[in-house]
Amino acid sequence: MTSMFDLTGRKAILTGGTRGLGHAMAEGLLEAGAEVVIWGTTGRAIEVADAFRQRGFACHGIAADLKDRDSLRTGFEKSLELLGGRIDILVNAAGIQRRHPITQFPMEDWDTVLEVNLTACFQLCQLAGREMVKQGYGKIVNIASMNSFFGGQNVPAYSASKGGVAQLTKALSNEWAQHGITVNAIAPGYMATDMNVDTRASQSFYDEVVRRIPARRWGSGEDMKGACVFLASDASAYLNGAVIPVDGGYLGS
Ligand SMILES: NC(=O)c1ccc[n+]([C@@H]2O[C@H](COP(=O)([O-])OP(=O)(O)OC[C@H]3O[C@@H](n4cnc5c(N)ncnc54)[C@H](O)[C@@H]3O)[C@@H](O)[C@H]2O)c1
Repeated sequence: MTSMFDLTGRKAILTGGTRGLGHAMAEGLLEAGAEVVIWGTTGRAIEVADAFRQRGFACHGIAADLKDRDSLRTGFEKSLELLGGRIDILVNAAGIQRRHPITQFPMEDWDTVLEVNLTACFQLCQLAGREMVKQGYGKIVNIASMNSFFGGQNVPAYSASKGGVAQLTKALSNEWAQHGITVNAIAPGYMATDMNVDTRASQSFYDEVVRRIPARRWGSGEDMKGACVFLASDASAYLNGAVIPVDGGYLGS
Protein backbone atom coordinates (compact mmCIF):
# COMPACT_ATOMS: atom_id res chain seq x y z
CA MET A 1 0.00 0.00 0.00
CA THR A 2 2.68 2.52 0.94
CA SER A 3 4.19 2.44 -2.57
CA MET A 4 1.08 4.17 -3.92
CA PHE A 5 2.12 7.24 -1.94
CA ASP A 6 5.83 7.00 -2.72
CA LEU A 7 7.17 10.11 -4.47
CA THR A 8 10.76 8.97 -4.93
CA GLY A 9 12.24 10.61 -8.01
CA ARG A 10 9.24 12.91 -8.55
CA LYS A 11 10.01 16.56 -9.30
CA ALA A 12 7.93 19.22 -7.61
CA ILE A 13 7.41 22.97 -7.47
CA LEU A 14 5.62 24.39 -4.43
CA THR A 15 4.80 28.07 -3.89
CA GLY A 16 4.43 29.63 -0.44
CA GLY A 17 6.84 27.11 1.05
CA THR A 18 8.61 29.46 3.45
CA ARG A 19 6.08 29.11 6.25
CA GLY A 20 2.66 27.93 7.34
CA LEU A 21 0.72 25.34 5.38
CA GLY A 22 3.05 25.49 2.35
CA HIS A 23 6.09 24.75 4.50
CA ALA A 24 4.40 21.71 6.04
CA MET A 25 3.25 20.42 2.64
CA ALA A 26 6.77 20.85 1.26
CA GLU A 27 8.02 18.75 4.17
CA GLY A 28 5.37 16.14 3.38
CA LEU A 29 6.46 15.89 -0.26
CA LEU A 30 10.14 15.71 0.74
CA GLU A 31 9.45 13.01 3.34
CA ALA A 32 7.62 11.02 0.66
CA GLY A 33 10.76 11.19 -1.54
CA ALA A 34 10.13 14.07 -3.96
CA GLU A 35 12.69 16.66 -5.05
CA VAL A 36 11.11 20.04 -4.35
CA VAL A 37 11.74 23.63 -5.45
CA ILE A 38 10.27 25.89 -2.80
CA TRP A 39 9.14 29.36 -3.80
CA GLY A 40 8.88 32.44 -1.62
CA THR A 41 8.84 36.20 -2.15
CA THR A 42 12.23 36.73 -0.54
CA GLY A 43 15.60 35.07 0.01
CA ARG A 44 13.89 33.24 2.88
CA ALA A 45 12.99 30.54 0.34
CA ILE A 46 16.71 29.84 -0.12
CA GLU A 47 17.25 29.63 3.66
CA VAL A 48 14.30 27.29 4.12
CA ALA A 49 15.53 25.06 1.29
CA ASP A 50 19.03 25.02 2.84
CA ALA A 51 17.55 23.89 6.15
CA PHE A 52 15.70 21.05 4.40
CA ARG A 53 18.87 20.08 2.52
CA GLN A 54 20.78 19.89 5.80
CA ARG A 55 18.22 17.30 6.89
CA GLY A 56 19.12 15.22 3.82
CA PHE A 57 16.23 16.20 1.55
CA ALA A 58 16.53 17.16 -2.15
CA CYS A 59 15.33 20.74 -1.92
CA HIS A 60 16.00 24.02 -3.74
CA GLY A 61 14.79 27.58 -3.08
CA ILE A 62 13.66 30.26 -5.50
CA ALA A 63 12.76 33.88 -4.74
CA ALA A 64 9.90 34.86 -7.03
CA ASP A 65 7.16 37.43 -6.52
CA LEU A 66 3.78 36.11 -7.63
CA LYS A 67 2.52 39.69 -8.07
CA ASP A 68 4.95 40.00 -10.96
CA ARG A 69 4.19 37.86 -14.00
CA ASP A 70 7.72 38.16 -15.41
CA SER A 71 9.25 37.13 -12.09
CA LEU A 72 6.89 34.15 -12.06
CA ARG A 73 7.86 33.08 -15.58
CA THR A 74 11.57 33.42 -14.82
CA GLY A 75 11.10 31.54 -11.55
CA PHE A 76 9.41 28.73 -13.41
CA GLU A 77 12.22 28.48 -15.98
CA LYS A 78 14.85 28.44 -13.20
CA SER A 79 12.91 25.79 -11.29
CA LEU A 80 12.60 23.57 -14.34
CA GLU A 81 16.33 23.85 -14.88
CA LEU A 82 17.01 22.89 -11.24
CA LEU A 83 14.71 19.88 -11.67
CA GLY A 84 16.48 18.68 -14.82
CA GLY A 85 13.75 19.76 -17.24
CA ARG A 86 10.85 17.84 -15.71
CA ILE A 87 7.96 18.74 -13.41
CA ASP A 88 5.66 16.03 -12.02
CA ILE A 89 4.00 17.94 -9.19
CA LEU A 90 2.85 21.55 -8.77
CA VAL A 91 1.44 22.76 -5.45
CA ASN A 92 0.05 26.31 -5.49
CA ALA A 93 0.12 27.07 -1.77
CA ALA A 94 1.01 30.79 -1.70
CA GLY A 95 -1.84 33.06 -0.77
CA ILE A 96 -2.63 36.37 0.88
CA GLN A 97 -5.62 37.90 2.60
CA ARG A 98 -6.69 41.55 3.01
CA ARG A 99 -9.49 42.43 5.43
CA HIS A 100 -11.65 45.56 5.07
CA PRO A 101 -15.38 46.28 5.00
CA ILE A 102 -16.53 46.16 1.37
CA THR A 103 -17.46 49.87 1.23
CA GLN A 104 -13.85 50.78 2.09
CA PHE A 105 -12.06 47.97 0.29
CA PRO A 106 -9.09 49.52 -1.60
CA MET A 107 -8.92 48.56 -5.26
CA GLU A 108 -5.13 48.03 -4.93
CA ASP A 109 -5.83 45.33 -2.34
CA TRP A 110 -8.44 43.77 -4.60
CA ASP A 111 -5.92 43.66 -7.48
CA THR A 112 -3.10 42.25 -5.32
CA VAL A 113 -5.21 39.49 -3.78
CA LEU A 114 -6.64 38.42 -7.15
CA GLU A 115 -3.18 38.52 -8.75
CA VAL A 116 -1.44 36.39 -6.10
CA ASN A 117 -4.26 33.97 -5.23
CA LEU A 118 -5.89 33.41 -8.60
CA THR A 119 -3.97 34.82 -11.58
CA ALA A 120 -0.58 33.49 -10.44
CA CYS A 121 -2.21 30.12 -9.77
CA PHE A 122 -3.54 30.08 -13.34
CA GLN A 123 -0.24 31.21 -14.86
CA LEU A 124 1.76 28.57 -13.00
CA CYS A 125 -0.75 25.85 -13.85
CA GLN A 126 -0.49 26.89 -17.50
CA LEU A 127 3.33 26.83 -17.49
CA ALA A 128 3.49 23.50 -15.62
CA GLY A 129 0.60 22.07 -17.62
CA ARG A 130 2.40 22.64 -20.91
CA GLU A 131 5.25 20.41 -19.65
CA MET A 132 2.88 17.88 -18.11
CA VAL A 133 0.83 17.51 -21.30
CA LYS A 134 4.08 16.75 -23.20
CA GLN A 135 5.03 14.21 -20.53
CA GLY A 136 1.56 12.66 -20.38
CA TYR A 137 1.78 12.87 -16.58
CA GLY A 138 1.27 15.46 -13.87
CA LYS A 139 -0.24 16.17 -10.47
CA ILE A 140 -1.51 19.66 -9.66
CA VAL A 141 -2.66 20.57 -6.16
CA ASN A 142 -4.26 23.98 -5.67
CA ILE A 143 -5.09 25.43 -2.28
CA ALA A 144 -8.66 26.64 -2.01
CA SER A 145 -10.42 27.60 1.25
CA MET A 146 -13.67 27.45 3.19
CA ASN A 147 -14.18 30.78 1.39
CA SER A 148 -14.40 28.80 -1.85
CA PHE A 149 -17.80 27.68 -0.49
CA PHE A 150 -18.99 30.72 1.45
CA GLY A 151 -18.35 34.44 1.30
CA GLY A 152 -17.06 35.29 4.77
CA GLN A 153 -17.00 38.81 6.25
CA ASN A 154 -14.65 41.63 5.19
CA VAL A 155 -12.73 39.39 2.77
CA PRO A 156 -14.50 39.89 -0.59
CA ALA A 157 -11.30 39.67 -2.67
CA TYR A 158 -10.09 36.59 -0.81
CA SER A 159 -13.47 34.86 -1.20
CA ALA A 160 -13.69 35.78 -4.90
CA SER A 161 -10.15 34.50 -5.47
CA LYS A 162 -10.68 31.24 -3.61
CA GLY A 163 -14.03 30.64 -5.31
CA GLY A 164 -12.07 31.17 -8.52
CA VAL A 165 -9.40 28.65 -7.49
CA ALA A 166 -12.08 25.98 -6.98
CA GLN A 167 -13.65 26.63 -10.39
CA LEU A 168 -10.26 26.94 -12.11
CA THR A 169 -9.31 23.54 -10.65
CA LYS A 170 -12.33 21.95 -12.34
CA ALA A 171 -11.73 23.77 -15.64
CA LEU A 172 -8.08 22.63 -15.78
CA SER A 173 -9.05 19.11 -14.79
CA ASN A 174 -11.66 18.89 -17.55
CA GLU A 175 -9.06 19.64 -20.24
CA TRP A 176 -6.10 17.78 -18.81
CA ALA A 177 -7.44 14.56 -17.24
CA GLN A 178 -7.18 12.90 -20.66
CA HIS A 179 -3.43 13.70 -20.65
CA GLY A 180 -2.76 11.84 -17.42
CA ILE A 181 -2.81 15.01 -15.33
CA THR A 182 -4.86 15.19 -12.17
CA VAL A 183 -5.85 18.66 -10.98
CA ASN A 184 -7.43 18.84 -7.53
CA ALA A 185 -7.66 21.30 -4.67
CA ILE A 186 -7.50 21.15 -0.91
CA ALA A 187 -9.84 23.48 0.97
CA PRO A 188 -8.28 23.98 4.40
CA GLY A 189 -10.56 24.90 7.28
CA TYR A 190 -9.44 27.13 10.11
CA MET A 191 -5.69 26.54 10.38
CA ALA A 192 -3.54 28.37 12.92
CA THR A 193 -0.88 30.16 10.85
CA ASP A 194 0.66 33.63 10.54
CA MET A 195 -2.10 34.52 8.06
CA ASN A 196 -4.76 34.67 10.78
CA VAL A 197 -2.69 35.63 13.80
CA ASP A 198 -4.74 38.83 14.19
CA THR A 199 -8.18 37.23 13.98
CA ARG A 200 -7.09 34.43 16.33
CA ALA A 201 -6.03 37.05 18.88
CA SER A 202 -9.72 37.53 19.68
CA GLN A 203 -10.45 34.77 22.21
CA SER A 204 -14.19 34.97 21.56
CA PHE A 205 -13.67 34.45 17.79
CA TYR A 206 -11.19 31.64 18.43
CA ASP A 207 -13.63 29.85 20.75
CA GLU A 208 -16.60 30.41 18.44
CA VAL A 209 -14.70 28.70 15.61
CA VAL A 210 -13.66 25.78 17.84
CA ARG A 211 -17.28 25.27 18.91
CA ARG A 212 -18.31 24.73 15.28
CA ILE A 213 -15.43 22.40 14.38
CA PRO A 214 -16.46 18.80 15.14
CA ALA A 215 -12.77 17.90 15.72
CA ARG A 216 -12.81 20.67 18.40
CA ARG A 217 -9.52 22.31 17.41
CA TRP A 218 -8.00 24.60 14.82
CA GLY A 219 -5.93 22.76 12.21
CA SER A 220 -2.20 23.02 11.52
CA GLY A 221 0.26 22.45 8.71
CA GLU A 222 0.70 18.86 9.85
CA ASP A 223 -2.97 18.26 9.02
CA MET A 224 -2.31 19.23 5.37
CA LYS A 225 0.51 16.79 4.71
CA GLY A 226 -1.55 13.62 4.17
CA ALA A 227 -3.99 15.17 1.70
CA CYS A 228 -1.16 16.86 -0.19
CA VAL A 229 0.92 13.69 -0.56
CA PHE A 230 -2.22 11.76 -1.56
CA LEU A 231 -3.08 14.28 -4.31
CA ALA A 232 0.57 14.41 -5.46
CA SER A 233 0.87 10.63 -5.66
CA ASP A 234 -0.49 7.81 -7.79
CA ALA A 235 -2.92 6.96 -4.96
CA SER A 236 -5.16 9.69 -6.45
CA ALA A 237 -4.84 8.55 -10.10
CA TYR A 238 -8.63 8.59 -10.71
CA LEU A 239 -9.45 11.68 -8.65
CA ASN A 240 -10.10 14.62 -10.96
CA GLY A 241 -11.33 18.15 -10.33
CA ALA A 242 -12.15 17.57 -6.66
CA VAL A 243 -12.06 20.22 -3.95
CA ILE A 244 -11.35 18.31 -0.75
CA PRO A 245 -12.04 19.96 2.60
CA VAL A 246 -9.41 19.39 5.31
CA ASP A 247 -11.33 21.17 8.01
CA GLY A 248 -11.98 18.94 11.03
CA GLY A 249 -15.56 18.62 9.77
CA TYR A 250 -16.34 22.39 9.79
CA LEU A 251 -18.08 22.44 6.42
CA GLY A 252 -20.51 19.73 7.34
CA SER A 253 -21.40 21.07 10.77
N1 LIG B 1 -4.48 29.53 7.42
C1 LIG B 1 -5.72 29.22 7.11
O1 LIG B 1 -6.61 29.14 7.96
C2 LIG B 1 -6.08 28.95 5.68
C3 LIG B 1 -7.37 28.51 5.41
C4 LIG B 1 -7.74 28.25 4.11
C5 LIG B 1 -6.83 28.44 3.09
N2 LIG B 1 -5.58 28.86 3.36
C6 LIG B 1 -4.67 29.01 2.23
O2 LIG B 1 -3.52 28.22 2.42
C7 LIG B 1 -2.41 28.82 1.79
C8 LIG B 1 -1.27 28.99 2.79
O3 LIG B 1 -1.74 29.85 3.82
P1 LIG B 1 -0.98 30.05 5.21
O4 LIG B 1 -2.02 30.15 6.25
O5 LIG B 1 0.10 29.08 5.35
O6 LIG B 1 -0.41 31.53 4.98
P2 LIG B 1 0.96 32.20 5.38
O7 LIG B 1 0.66 33.66 5.37
O8 LIG B 1 1.55 31.61 6.61
O9 LIG B 1 1.93 31.82 4.16
C9 LIG B 1 1.71 32.35 2.88
C10 LIG B 1 2.85 32.01 1.96
O10 LIG B 1 2.59 32.63 0.70
C11 LIG B 1 3.75 33.31 0.25
N3 LIG B 1 3.42 34.49 -0.54
C12 LIG B 1 2.57 35.49 -0.19
N4 LIG B 1 2.59 36.45 -1.14
C13 LIG B 1 3.45 36.03 -2.10
C14 LIG B 1 3.90 36.60 -3.32
N5 LIG B 1 3.49 37.79 -3.78
N6 LIG B 1 4.79 35.90 -4.05
C15 LIG B 1 5.25 34.70 -3.63
N7 LIG B 1 4.87 34.13 -2.48
C16 LIG B 1 3.98 34.79 -1.72
C17 LIG B 1 4.48 33.72 1.54
O11 LIG B 1 5.87 33.93 1.29
C18 LIG B 1 4.21 32.51 2.44
O12 LIG B 1 5.18 31.51 2.21
C19 LIG B 1 -2.91 30.12 1.19
O13 LIG B 1 -3.27 29.94 -0.15
C20 LIG B 1 -4.15 30.41 2.02
O14 LIG B 1 -5.06 31.22 1.34
C21 LIG B 1 -5.18 29.13 4.63
